[in-house]
Amino acid sequence: MKCNKCAQRAVFTMRHYKLSLCETHYMEWFVSHTGQTIQKYHLLRPDERVLIAVSGGKDSLSLWDVLIRLGYAVDGLYIDLGIDGGFGYSALSHQKIDAFMAGHPETRLHVVDLAAEYGATLPQIAGRKRRGREKPCALCGLIKRHEMNRIAQAFGYDVLVTGHNLDDEAAVLFSNVLHWHTGYIARQAPVLEERTGLARKVKPLCRAYEREVAAYALIRGIDYIYEECPYVEGSRTLMYKGMLDQLEEEAAGTKLQFYVTFLHAKKDGFFRDEEALVELHPCDTCGQPTIAPGSCAFCRIWKEPER
Ligand code: AMP
Ligand code: FES
Ligand code: ZN
Ligand code: ZN
Repeated sequence: MKCNKCAQRAVFTMRHYKLSLCETHYMEWFVSHTGQTIQKYHLLRPDERVLIAVSGGKDSLSLWDVLIRLGYAVDGLYIDLGIDGGFGYSALSHQKIDAFMAGHPETRLHVVDLAAEYGATLPQIAGRKRRGREKPCALCGLIKRHEMNRIAQAFGYDVLVTGHNLDDEAAVLFSNVLHWHTGYIARQAPVLEERTGLARKVKPLCRAYEREVAAYALIRGIDYIYEECPYVEGSRTLMYKGMLDQLEEEAAGTKLQFYVTFLHAKKDGFFRDEEALVELHPCDTCGQPTIAPGSCAFCRIWKEPER
């Protein structure tokens, strides 16, 4: 098959856009498509100092690459959770980020090593008595959100970027709709505006299919960690992703339509973000905003008794 823009051989087809492109035109397309998402949802302004949270996976590394190509000044943040999983998951992720950075000497990487900073890795905290056998993913999300915000604020970044892609966003939406978590639905968006003590958070890959991001990484030669976090296996999110994949297979564009029409409904005032109206208080330990008075959920982790 030929590229829709030139006479070269097409290497990638996007059925939902009825578009097949060669390597050169695909790379151009992906960068400009991400740029359009940034414009459409007012995610970034050209002069802003941007901090990207990088996991070593394809999404965040590809996005970092794209943002640099779009001319943004972007530094990285890696949170080392100390996950091993039998293959040194966290250490390997860090190595991939260092390898990427070797090609971008203009960028800086902040590293938060959970064990060094707070005295315990994620598996160690998760293993503490009171938490029983629950998967550490919710805890992990809480820790990452807290640390991302802390570093963004401490170093004066204007905005925090994450690599969530369309497959991630569609799966979260699907789960929230199945359970009618109306509060979460109201808060799901490509941009979470800044509030006192909370940095603005944006997701420029929210309209990019996971396979589009993987194709970009491959064509650009970005080396990333292929293995998933060892705790992901058997998760609900993975199940919802599989179901959405089946729908997509039957009708190309399903995920994109599901997510984008949701954003339209939201814009039309279909969902009200009640949480935006809730007053926040500074945590009495770390100072970050929290709903309940006293310490925030992150600070309470470290106060729990050890086994
Ligand atoms: P995940 O929740 O693993 O799907 O990751 C979603 C996004 O969160 C990634 O694209 C990154 O932007 C960010 N992220 C995940 N893990 C880390 C980490 N260990 N350090 C920094 N950012 C992360
Ligand atoms: Fe957080 Fe897997 S990356 S539990
Ligand atoms: Zn071409
Ligand atoms: Zn706190």
